[in-house]
Amino acid sequence: MQNNNENEHSGGHVLDVNNYSLSIKKGKKYINILKGMDFYIDKGEVLGVVGESGCGKSMTALSIMHLINGETKTEGSIMFNGKNILNATKKEMLNIRGNEISMIFQEPMTSLNPVLTIGEQLSEVFMAHSRISKKDAYAKALDALKLVKIAEPEKRIKCYPHELSGGMRQRVMIAMALSSDPKLLIADEPTTALDVTIQAQILELIRDLQKKLDTSVMFITHDLGVVAEVCKRAVILYCGHVVEEGNVEELFSNPLHPYTEGLLESLPDIGKHEKLSMIPGNVPSTGNYPSGCPFHPRCKYATEKCRTQAPVMKTLDNGRKVCCWRV
Ligand SMILES: Nc1ncnc2c1ncn2[C@@H]1O[C@H](COP(=O)(O)OP(=O)(O)OP(=O)(O)O)[C@@H](O)[C@H]1O
Ligand SMILES: [Mg+2]
Repeated sequence: MQNNNENEHSGGHVLDVNNYSLSIKKGKKYINILKGMDFYIDKGEVLGVVGESGCGKSMTALSIMHLINGETKTEGSIMFNGKNILNATKKEMLNIRGNEISMIFQEPMTSLNPVLTIGEQLSEVFMAHSRISKKDAYAKALDALKLVKIAEPEKRIKCYPHELSGGMRQRVMIAMALSSDPKLLIADEPTTALDVTIQAQILELIRDLQKKLDTSVMFITHDLGVVAEVCKRAVILYCGHVVEEGNVEELFSNPLHPYTEGLLESLPDIGKHEKLSMIPGNVPSTGNYPSGCPFHPRCKYATEKCRTQAPVMKTLDNGRKVCCWRV
């Protein structure tokens, strides 16, 4: 799959999503889920993908992986290593998912096989990637558990998934996802189901491994606080649209889109005793995206123009992008 020449043509981006739209068939109609999405991930970069529940984060990830159920219609392209994988065949995607793009999910229990030990599952993965003996695969499984810093790996390797804590299970999933040395790791809310201290440990692990292995990561979260911990750059999604993109420091110090501003205002700030503000209203359901700017019903700055005309994405001097009439 990899072709360095092709990669050079895409400017070194591992992933390039261009004007990507997705609709899924429901009954007789197609419902639009994602619209005109544009973003990229550089080699060795961790990109944050942020937004409230229902804004299309998982659908974006599953689009890249070709894991969406049902009949779909798409537009645009998803370039991975210089090749449009939107048109990839089932066989090509099997290869890409097994070797080049890996994904970890919010709830690791659902992705682990309850009747196999951790060692058996990890060994299977290693044997699927290369022709090695069972014994060698088991040794690799043990190394993988050490890489993700599981305490007492020799003991844990013999455990069944239910015998591990949530944090340990997520470490196993990370070990599995990294076993093929992927170019891109998609992490879909990998710490949301964990309590706060464990969450911090897993974030630290992902950060450390990313540096060590130089993998590109698409880090999906609803929490801007988490983004600040792991990413340098982020895209903000709303109603299946990218509404803002930029350097995380700049997004925090000077949010340009009112939605980004709202997300920041709803972050708890330890030490400050101001009341948390919430963005009023809810994310509209798919099929009911408002006219004009999709955020206008919840936006305190909305004008008549926002209600009727969809804003276009503007790119500012520093590469910052924002989709709002006020800018
Ligand atoms: N198979 C499907 N058919 C039609 N609509 C769907 C389907 N799956 C998801 N949706 C809708 O697509 C929208 C985006 O869903 P998605 O799962 O990507 O949200 P999300 O940002 O990942 O949210 P969360 O933070 O809750 O995980 C939602 O409104 C959801 O209801
Ligand atoms: Mg999701």
